[in-house]
Amino acid sequence: MTALDTLNAISPQADAISRLFVGVLTVLGLIFAVVAVLVTFAVLRYREKPGVQLPRQIYGSHRLELTWTAIPILLLVGIFVFTVKVMHAARPPEDVRAPDILVVGHQWWWEVNYLKSGIVTANELHIPVGQRLLIRLESADVIHDFWVPRLGPKLDAIPGHPGYLWLEADQAGTYRGACAEFCGAEHAWMRLEVIAQPQDEFAAWEQAQLAVPAAPTSAQALAGMKLFAERTCVNCHRLAGTSADQRVGPDLTHLADRRFLAGGAALNTPSNLAQWLKDPNSIKPDSRMPNFQFSDAEVAALVAYLESTK
Ligand code: CUA
Repeated sequence: MTALDTLNAISPQADAISRLFVGVLTVLGLIFAVVAVLVTFAVLRYREKPGVQLPRQIYGSHRLELTWTAIPILLLVGIFVFTVKVMHAARPPEDVRAPDILVVGHQWWWEVNYLKSGIVTANELHIPVGQRLLIRLESADVIHDFWVPRLGPKLDAIPGHPGYLWLEADQAGTYRGACAEFCGAEHAWMRLEVIAQPQDEFAAWEQAQLAVPAAPTSAQALAGMKLFAERTCVNCHRLAGTSADQRVGPDLTHLADRRFLAGGAALNTPSNLAQWLKDPNSIKPDSRMPNFQFSDAEVAALVAYLESTK
């Protein structure tokens, strides 16, 4: 994400916000220019010079007072009307229709549930290009804030109070987002990515996600599968086709397909995954993932297993 993302809109919602930003900035810039020119003129023209007397002093002028009261009021009314219009363009009305995707903010990662297909993933949202999806936003713990600057407005995820957001991208691409509300120690590692794909690519992704991973074949991965069930991974995670069906931590069904681990704190490579299993705090201090004191062989087995679930 860069500061310019806001100006580089890829959806009608973000475009409306970008126009509002540029519009207000232009008005403010013009006011600044007018004031700067008048002040400079006054300083140069009316400064104290030898032999020149003080000019006539004016105390109170209804016309001037009215002018400098009316102009800001008119400007603020204009900005207000423009802002309300943009709010309507950028945000769906409450309960406009059934949501497509449920996003839940957790300390410190995003749970993503596709409500129609049943796919569950984490920290990345695949969407078909050019389709307007309705996101329902919730929080599992504290207040988070969902923000993908190039695609739309920020929206707080407030515990017990769901919010709604349009999500749409007019061009294929990967759009970075982040949690935009301080939510604890690892707030900075609560990133997400929206991957907008052409319809056929999106359908292929959906098919791949819906597939239940086949049981592993290598001895090492089989050992990892056993460890996964025995070493309490199953108490917090879900992995389709196994007994693991908890939602405390991210769904691990197709973990190997994801680009990041730990809310963006590390790229999802086998070596980073091993490091994460060995000592989660070395990648993300204060992470809710416990350190299970796995031996190197156990870590290698678990990595082999999780990589096999692609
Ligand atoms: Cu979640 Cu900041």
